[in-house]
Amino acid sequence: MYGNPTCLFPRHLMDLMPIFWFLVFIFVDVTKQDRSDDMWEALTLRYRQWEKLPRTSHDAERQGYTRQNDICKTNSGNYHGFLYKQKDDTKALPIYDLNGWIAGIQAMIPGNMKGFNSRNESIPLPPIDVMPPIMIGDIIDSIQMYTVTAYFKHPKLICNPIARIGITLGKGLYIQMGPNPVTMFQEIPMYSKDLNPIWQPGSCIPTMGLHYFRNVSKDLPCEKIYPVFLMYDTEGKLGAFGWSFQGKPMDVSSSQISWFRMTPQTYAFTFDTKVLPTCMFHQDFRIFGIHIWLQPHNSPKMTCPLVIQERPTGKPVHKPSTINYTNGLEVPMITPQPADDRNSAEFMSLSWMCITLVTLLQIVTFRVGLLS
Ligand SMILES: *[C@@H]1O[C@H](CO)[C@@H](O)[C@H](O)[C@H]1NC(C)=O
Ligand SMILES: *[C@@H]1O[C@H](CO)[C@@H](O)[C@H](O)[C@H]1NC(C)=O
Ligand SMILES: *[C@@H]1O[C@H](CO)[C@@H](O)[C@H](O)[C@H]1NC(C)=O
Repeated sequence: MYGNPTCLFPRHLMDLMPIFWFLVFIFVDVTKQDRSDDMWEALTLRYRQWEKLPRTSHDAERQGYTRQNDICKTNSGNYHGFLYKQKDDTKALPIYDLNGWIAGIQAMIPGNMKGFNSRNESIPLPPIDVMPPIMIGDIIDSIQMYTVTAYFKHPKLICNPIARIGITLGKGLYIQMGPNPVTMFQEIPMYSKDLNPIWQPGSCIPTMGLHYFRNVSKDLPCEKIYPVFLMYDTEGKLGAFGWSFQGKPMDVSSSQISWFRMTPQTYAFTFDTKVLPTCMFHQDFRIFGIHIWLQPHNSPKMTCPLVIQERPTGKPVHKPSTINYTNGLEVPMITPQPADDRNSAEFMSLSWMCITLVTLLQIVTFRVGLLS
C-alpha cells in the first residue's frame, strides 16, 4: 500500500520524502504488534458461535469489560498485565499488556465442587496434584476461586514491552506455573514435533485440530488429569488450546460464553476413550472447560483427518460427535462457519491509516507552501 507514493504528489514535493518516510516509520511502528508474527490471528472462544476476545483494552472497555487491577505486576501474584472481566463472567478474562494489546487469558473456577480420585473416592476440587497450573485466586461471593492463566507472548513482555534480551519474541503460548509468571511458566512448543512425548494425541476434530492431552493413560489417577490441552493443525503447528477441569460447576453468570461439559458418554468427542483412566468412567464423573483458538478455526489447516508421521503409536479416532456447550438446552453441531468480518475490519483500519497519512502529508505540504 505504500508502493510508489510519489505519484500522489507534484514533483517539487520530492524534497519532503524524508518526512514522508518518517511518518511511514511512525505508523508502521505503532501498528507493529498487530502483525501476524507478533499476534495470534484468531483468539476466539467457542460457545455456539466464535466469540472474539477484544484485541485491545479499549475494545474490551467498549464491550463492557472492566479492568480488575491498576498495577501491571499485581501484588497478589496471580498474573501480570491488566485483567478484564465482563460482568460476572469468570470463564474467560482477557489480559492486556502495558500497551493495551491482548496478551493472555485467565479462567477462574469455583472451589466448591466435588470430584473423584483414582479409587472413585470423593475429593474436593480442584485437586492439589494439578496446582500449578491451577492457582489459588480471590474469594468471590464467599466462594474461593482458582485460576489458570495463559499468555500469548513471553510473560516478560507483558509489563515490560521493550524487554528483548534472552527471550523468545513474537506470539507464543505460555502457561503460568507459579506466582511469578516471568520466571514460572511452561512454554508450549509451536510445533507438535517438539512436544514432550508425555503429550498424547487424542481426537482430531474439524475446525479444532488434533488434540493432545498430557500423560493420559489407563493408569493416570483422575486427580492428576492435567487442566491444559493443546490442538495442532495439519502442518503440526499450534492452532488452539483449552482448559479442561474435573467437576460440574454451577454457572449462573449472564455471559454468552459457556463451558463445554462432558460426561462419560461424550468423552469420545475429544478423547481417545481407549486410553482414559477407569476412574473417569464413574457415572458421576464430569469434565468441563473451554477451547481458545489461536489460529482461525476456518483455516484449511484446521481440518481433519490428519496424517500423523511422528507418532506411530498415536491412534487418533475420528468421532466428531456433539457436545453440550450450554447448560443443557441445546446440542450444537460442529459445522463449518462462514468467514468472519475480521479481514474487512483490518482493511478498514489500514484504509484509515492511509487516509491519515495522506492528510498529514497534505498539511505538511500546505505549511511548506505557506513558508516558501
Ligand atoms: C503420568 O502418569 C502416571 C500413571 O500412568 C503417573 O504415575 C505419573 O505420576 C504421571 N506423571 C506426571 C508427570 O503427571
Ligand atoms: C471406579 O468406577 C469405574 C466405573 O464405575 C470402574 O470401572 C472402576 O473399576 C472403579 N475403580 C475402582 C478402583 O473401584
Ligand atoms: C446435552 O444436554 C441435554 C439436556 O440436558 C441432554 O439430554 C443430552 O443428552 C446432552 N447431550 C450430550 C451430548 O451430552
